Amino acid sequence: MATFTLPKNSKIRKTGELHQALTGGKKRPFKVYRYDPDKGENPRYDTFEIDTDECGPMVLDALIKMKSEQDATLTFRRSCREGICGSCAMNINGKNGLACTTAIEDCGNKVTITPLPHMEVIKDLVPDFTHFYAQYASIEPWLKTVTPTPSGKERLQSPEDRNKLDGLYECILCACCQTSCPSYWWNSDKFLGPAILLQAYRWLADSRDEMTGERLDELEDPFRLYRCHTIMNCANACPKGLSPAKAIAEIKKMTASREI
Ligand code: SF4
Ligand code: SF4
Ligand code: FES
Repeated sequence: MATFTLPKNSKIRKTGELHQALTGGKKRPFKVYRYDPDKGENPRYDTFEIDTDECGPMVLDALIKMKSEQDATLTFRRSCREGICGSCAMNINGKNGLACTTAIEDCGNKVTITPLPHMEVIKDLVPDFTHFYAQYASIEPWLKTVTPTPSGKERLQSPEDRNKLDGLYECILCACCQTSCPSYWWNSDKFLGPAILLQAYRWLADSRDEMTGERLDELEDPFRLYRCHTIMNCANACPKGLSPAKAIAEIKKMTASREI
């Protein structure tokens, strides 16, 4: 059920802390969302002054500098630093993206960083992915077959069939699309959302999978699939250039064509 005002304990406090730059080069302010459930205080924005002459080029470099030099309690996820793991997904100046592939230079003079929207926040920039992963598990994201493997060996695919997975297998499950989808904001309990539906189509499009009918049965539902209203925010948000909206349209085509 949608709620249109923030709960009392989520409202942002007016005062945050200022963390001054430790060196005197070119300074840029970063406004960063801070929330620590152990303190029992409402969230706030801290300002970190960063000497960009002494910092790497990406927003993730600035966050690592803040944490190592100004406030060790600042909490965020990251791993690969190469746009591969999806763990540094956050909202940067109002747009979801990966901190490790977003250049500070492209962010303008002031950079505001918040966690991915419409997810519970565990601490600072770390959202709770429990529900997202449960939805992912619900589509059974693995190859499902009934026939025995041909001659006990691997299942082969023609190059043409393999090409059908392009634009799907590259998804890194960062949830940038998921959390920029208005339909998902209001119905995340029932609508699977663009990331999970793109993953669902990845298995529907796989020529080796033998559970297409059962997979479509699971998806065909006014909420799970059809809550997508083709608003297209998801395609705009994907840092890997994928189009979940297109994958969703393909699933809708598959469900429609089997009814004829
Ligand atoms: S196209 Fe569908 S999934 Fe994508 S943002 Fe719009 S409603 Fe959400
Ligand atoms: S489709 Fe793109 S934005 Fe969505 S989870 Fe996958 S990589 Fe992230
Ligand atoms: S740290 Fe892995 S995608 Fe950014």
